[in-house]
Amino acid sequence: MKALIASGGRGTRLRPITHTQNKHLIPIANKPILHYAIEAVAKAGIKEIAIVINAGSSEVPDAIGNGDRWGVNITYLQQEIPGGLAQVVGLAEKFMGNDEFIFYLGDNMVVGGVQSFLDAFKKSKCNCFLTLAKVKDPERFGVPEIRDGRIVSVEEKPEKPKSNFAVSGIYIYDHHIFEAVKSITQSARGELEISDAHQYLIDKGYTIGYAEITGWWKDTGKPADLLEANRLVLDNIETSIAGEVDAHSVVSGKVRIEKGARITNSVVRGPAIIGEGCTIQDAYIGPFSSIGNNTTIIKSEVEYSIILRDCKIHNVGIRLESSILGNDVEVVEGNGKPRVHRFMIGDQSRVEVV
Ligand code: DAU
Repeated sequence: MKALIASGGRGTRLRPITHTQNKHLIPIANKPILHYAIEAVAKAGIKEIAIVINAGSSEVPDAIGNGDRWGVNITYLQQEIPGGLAQVVGLAEKFMGNDEFIFYLGDNMVVGGVQSFLDAFKKSKCNCFLTLAKVKDPERFGVPEIRDGRIVSVEEKPEKPKSNFAVSGIYIYDHHIFEAVKSITQSARGELEISDAHQYLIDKGYTIGYAEITGWWKDTGKPADLLEANRLVLDNIETSIAGEVDAHSVVSGKVRIEKGARITNSVVRGPAIIGEGCTIQDAYIGPFSSIGNNTTIIKSEVEYSIILRDCKIHNVGIRLESSILGNDVEVVEGNGKPRVHRFMIGDQSRVEVV
């Protein structure tokens, strides 16, 4: 068994953060999303992993390396333009040979790992194994139609979904998937759709098994999904305090304070993570907040937010909530007269003021 992880694409729904950073490297609970995928397959005992990246970009290989730290070998495969998930699979044909493999979308997160799905796939002896999750908005996903316990069709982002399941971004295949991805044609939106490859397998009489994901699963495609994934991961952290907390501060709930961080005259209410070298002074950090390394938060309040590294949030009169700040962002009090909001914001940013 090998693994294929997708980390290319355009990340348009997460702009502006993705103007300067690959979406798979955005941290959830201060750890890049992509680490969760690699950890999941490594934990299932898989040693050979191919990661598909955007051609010409070294961002992911630079950040992830050759896999040593997880005890796996990582090979990078370049995708010229993001032409769809079936194209991503096609790029891996030589790498996979005749081996079975798990295909894991690098922006998906699932609690509980993938071992149980691999076991179910092996037991089922199917050619393809899909993992399904019940969702409120199936029209955003690949959607299966299930009759008598069998998947009889799969449609990509249908206007009228035939079930309330999403096909999650964790798939297991044998080599027949390569026949499928080579046989399908581009969809109306110009992509080789993985759902069309699944439909091909069904039409040709290959067997498709499935399992329902009963714990949580998240496709972190949109900002609200990132915040929700961050909440779910933080909910499961253990308290560890390596930084300094002064006598005037109150730290409660599950909180991780990394080394070199200093909490002074502040309240930190977990679950929350404060990264290395942060300064939190006369401030409030509320539940479900992740604060990246070397960020300073002074006389300000932050809750249910993801703040990346090297940010400054100083003397902000109103609590920041449900916010995502990129690297090196400043939100500070203006000093001049008249009292105005003054913005210096890049393309496709969003600010809500009261
Ligand atoms: O998350 C599950 C859903 O993922 C499935 O239900 C859908 O059937 C499947 O098509 C996919 O839909 P998305 O709209 O979420 O796919 P997205 O374009 O966001 O790409 C998913 C991941 O694959 C993401 O990590 C980026 C990467 N990617 C995407 C494309 C289109 C590539 O590496 N190359 C690509 O060409």
